Amino acid sequence: MVQVTELGYIGLGVKNLADWRDFAATVLALEVVEEDGAGRCTFRMDYWRHRFLVEEDGSDDLNFLGFRVAGQDEFRQMATQLTDAGVVVRVGSPAEADERRVLEIMKLNDASGYPIEIFHGPQIQADKPFHPGRRMHGGFKTGDGGLGHLIQRETVGFEKTYEFYKLLGMRGGVEYRIPVPGQPRPVELMFLHCNSRDHTIAFGPPGVKRINHLMIEVEAMDDVGLAYEIVRRRGIAVAMAPGRHANDHMYSFYFMNPSGWMCEIGWGARAASHQSEYYQRDSYGHEAVGGVMKGVMETVSVAAE
Ligand SMILES: [Fe+2]
Repeated sequence: MVQVTELGYIGLGVKNLADWRDFAATVLALEVVEEDGAGRCTFRMDYWRHRFLVEEDGSDDLNFLGFRVAGQDEFRQMATQLTDAGVVVRVGSPAEADERRVLEIMKLNDASGYPIEIFHGPQIQADKPFHPGRRMHGGFKTGDGGLGHLIQRETVGFEKTYEFYKLLGMRGGVEYRIPVPGQPRPVELMFLHCNSRDHTIAFGPPGVKRINHLMIEVEAMDDVGLAYEIVRRRGIAVAMAPGRHANDHMYSFYFMNPSGWMCEIGWGARAASHQSEYYQRDSYGHEAVGGVMKGVMETVSVAAE
């Protein structure tokens, strides 16, 4: 069985590209690169030509995820693996691969019907070191762990969702069972990994948007502190205060982006564990701040009924 090796890139749809350009550079510290044609740009965070493909399409949501496989042999095996399991896979044209700056690409939908792409051979710009959009103490931690992790909505239940992502070679399970006062059942969150990162994709929180949050990891703890100060000074809503997660040990905080979903900046995570275990809360911190998460938590309570 072949496996995806990392989340290589993501496609975002936004309502206001100017706001996102500014947010990406001056808050997230990403490198903004202009694209030919109005209403598009890309963000870099390492030597990759792009990690984010951003389009002003009005959706303010996640458009697609790009998962990498090691090479052309794995690419062909993955197409067979998915097709044999009954998944409809379309191998993209050379023009579609060029559009993403990869050697080959296939397009499909996950169990909930959300577009994903599987590719090999991303363009790496070894001659163009990452240039952060603002000062940083260190860089972004990508490497074998890919660009970061995200929590995504699912609409078919954990079992079917896991069955699909297992076809991509992912592994994981429920890592949080959070008791909700007055509710008979805890809220469960499911986390899946495909490399050393504890989770690349996770599921569970209710929400209307496909994406709940995106986490990008920094190499220096001081970059979490610096980002927190910038967010606070600019009056950007903090959604969860600094704290440490019990599952991936990430020290992080959450804040709102111009599209109304959350970004997480984290540091110090541990590697994925092969053995399953669950937690009822985080190590410390991460409390909902300023009422931003209040509506979300009310939805959690309703969803747990
Ligand atoms: Fe996270």
